[in-house]
Amino acid sequence: MSTGSQENKNDDEDFRVELLPEDYAQYDLSFKIIVIGDSGVGKSCLTTKAVKNNFEDYYQATVGFEFLTFNMKINEFVIKMQIWDTCGQEIYKSLISNFYRNSSLAVILYSIDNKESFEHAENWLTDLKSQANPDVRIFLVGNKSDLEDERKVSKEEGLKFKTDQGLDLFMETSAKTGYNARNVLIEAAKLLYSDYLKYLEANPQEPNKPGKKKKGEELKADKQKDQGKKKGCC
Ligand code: GTP
Ligand code: MG
Repeated sequence: MSTGSQENKNDDEDFRVELLPEDYAQYDLSFKIIVIGDSGVGKSCLTTKAVKNNFEDYYQATVGFEFLTFNMKINEFVIKMQIWDTCGQEIYKSLISNFYRNSSLAVILYSIDNKESFEHAENWLTDLKSQANPDVRIFLVGNKSDLEDERKVSKEEGLKFKTDQGLDLFMETSAKTGYNARNVLIEAAKLLYSDYLKYLEANPQEPNKPGKKKKGEELKADKQKDQGKKKGCC
């Protein structure tokens, strides 16, 4: 991992990624992402940095939740991500768990300078699994990677938790420097986009999974067009 800010090195053979403005109106696929974790780990700062490229160095606890949108294009598909930045305070836990249900992906955030917030990741995971859809994708993210001198949780510990729990991705981020902030959302979009294409292949007769605007045949045609482009034809 490099330490550049707001890196966007996500164009590879399978995914051509293009970021779109926040108010971009049209979309092909829409996904709900929920960000959970202890109070103060940086959920609001990280989502704000990723979406608006803005960082404020003061702490204002979120009350309930905040809602942001992030738009991007992957290959020919415009993807709208609805990001629910929740509050980490214990008293709001039952309110927050109501939002788990329709989430396609959850980001469990801890802070690398706060061991307790990492230990609590297991509780957040248990809560999430008890309420969310069984096929929810889950990322573990260690924020405040700029605070290397105050580090209390190693990268190896984060990676081990991700592997032991069978989570989909582990990454460290810094809302302050922007390190990997957008990449969390880009990786989420890539994974959910791939899941959707697999779903379409497995369910050709049943294309209308929630939140999808195009009909299955159109999406399949787009995919074939993409595959054609990858092979270098038309
Ligand atoms: P709740 O809304 O109470 O659940 O907290 P939160 O998880 O949303 O935390 P928030 O984003 O408000 O950040 C808490 C504090 O951590 C603020 O003072 C931020 O400035 C600081 N902070 C957030 N991200 C980073 C980071 O990556 N690096 C550093 N050094 N500080 C950060
Ligand atoms: Mg907050």
